[in-house]
Amino acid sequence: MTFAKGILSGKTAVVTGGATGIGAHIVRQLGRLGASVGIVSRNEEKLRQAVNSFREEDDLEVCWRSADVRERDAIQKAIEELATELGGIDILVCNAAGNFICPTEELSVNGWRSVIDIDLNGTFNCCQSALPHLKRSAEGGRIIAISTTAANFGWPGAAHAGAAKAGIQNLMKSLAVEWGRYGIRANWISPGPIAGTEGVDRLILQQGMAEQVKKSIPLGRFGEGEDIANAVVFLSAQTGNYITGAELAVDGGGQWQRR
Ligand code: HXC
Repeated sequence: MTFAKGILSGKTAVVTGGATGIGAHIVRQLGRLGASVGIVSRNEEKLRQAVNSFREEDDLEVCWRSADVRERDAIQKAIEELATELGGIDILVCNAAGNFICPTEELSVNGWRSVIDIDLNGTFNCCQSALPHLKRSAEGGRIIAISTTAANFGWPGAAHAGAAKAGIQNLMKSLAVEWGRYGIRANWISPGPIAGTEGVDRLILQQGMAEQVKKSIPLGRFGEGEDIANAVVFLSAQTGNYITGAELAVDGGGQWQRR
């Protein structure tokens, strides 16, 4: 445990894609530090498994709804219901994402659209749906989008995801300005490769890139889910009070050693 116990007591949080990967690490850390957490993602079976493991391993009661962030009405309803169950939303973590490796020359229109829809349009849908609740947050609502440092450079082989994440980053900057008057802070975290996630498995390990990628990280290792979760806590707690429209890169310095 890296933060004072109870640092997030009384806070409520919704994490999209919170059943697996980085999202699940974020849920555990927010919950352990006192927040009441709700999760939303597409796959009901994964949601049930995750909620059981949060209960059994961490003694956390996490509420959940199944919805696709691409479907505006469904995600709005899910967020509304989670807000009712939690008693509000102070923290929204837009973590749900889709991605695959495909050269742009071969990418189908639907493949492009699917990733833009999940990552960028999904983030917009969640932010706008949560807005009425974030506005009512006593200490100022927090939006934290999970991006990637690749969005700062271009992402050859995953141009759809790179463009979507760059769009998310720009959206956070606009929301920081537009919604600052409501006390809402809008920031994004840019993880490097995080061990044990589906993204790293499919995009790096299965491509035979593990050693090459590790060598490109000055700190010499992949990140851990907890590294990202700790950054979310930092931005969610009072430590993040004066931070908005900002990127927090959690990538072992990898973005500065790109070749
Ligand atoms: C080429 C592909 C493809 C692939 C899907 N498509 N996978 N094209 N190569 N490997 C095409 C399909 O053929 C289809 O186009 C279109 O994309 C939609 O595919 P569906 O499977 O019908 O879509 P859907 O079920 O909605 O799935 C969405 C998805 C999928 C994005 C395609 O991969 C997904 O749901 N992923 C969720 C989990 C995930 O990706 N998590 C990792 C995020 S990690 P056509 O034209 O055939 O209809 C991340 C950061 C990683 O973002 C950082 C690592 C360093």
